[in-house]
Amino acid sequence: MKGIILSGGSGTRLRPLTKMTSKQLLPVYNRPMIYYPLNTLLKAGIRDILIIVAPDHAGNYLNLLGSGREFGARFTYEIQDEPRGLADAFIIGESFLDDESVTMILGDNIFVDDFSDDIKSFTSGGRIFAKEVDDPKRFGIVEFDEQGKVLSIEEKPENPKSNYAIPGLYIFDNQVSMIAKSIEPSERGEIEITEIQNAYLEKEMLDVRKVEGEWIDAGTHDSLLDAGLLVRDKVDVKMII
Ligand code: DAU
Repeated sequence: MKGIILSGGSGTRLRPLTKMTSKQLLPVYNRPMIYYPLNTLLKAGIRDILIIVAPDHAGNYLNLLGSGREFGARFTYEIQDEPRGLADAFIIGESFLDDESVTMILGDNIFVDDFSDDIKSFTSGGRIFAKEVDDPKRFGIVEFDEQGKVLSIEEKPENPKSNYAIPGLYIFDNQVSMIAKSIEPSERGEIEITEIQNAYLEKEMLDVRKVEGEWIDAGTHDSLLDAGLLVRDKVDVKMII
């Protein structure tokens, strides 16, 4: 199992904080934001990690994280020139993945749960997660029937069919790069990760698991503040770095 941390994008929602540095390097209480998703991958035993960054602040990542040796891991870096969409990570990362399965995490997503079992038990297809939220229009949304079977997946729907958001942690087998290459850009001009999820869903190869613990997408001023408070006040964000 390889790992990808997608840490590009332009961070426009967090200006002016992101004029000088990348969003995912901003402080979340006592650590740079990217430490939290990195910690999630390392805790699950993933040691070979591709970090995808935007060109502007790429040098800062190298200064902060280096080769990965300090973390007992190996880091590879790639530049994403333009924020073409989350699915682009699997196109940029195709040669890095080298036909292995991958766990991708977004550089601004902070989880309390430990995903070791979900990651270690993965064999094929796709495995994603669901977490109930109050503001479903902000996220990819998964709809379940009464038996828990997945009915639909939609990216930022106008009229959400459920309150179950899909957090930024995705496990896919080695078909993912091929699927990503077949996706057409959406109306907002991005190749959407929800299209990959739908491709696996159509093949009946998508497993969706509920997230029990707290999860924060720290991409807005309010959620960035919430993330800092979560880390300060909750003893259960177990950090190994
Ligand atoms: O946080 C979970 C949500 O993340 C999911 O529920 C959605 O399905 C998914 O599309 C995504 O939505 P966001 O609106 O949060 O995506 P955003 O454009 O903010 O990008 C998420 C992170 O990925 C952000 O830290 C920047 C980075 N990124 C984004 C794009 C589009 C890249 O590195 N490259 C990109 O091309």
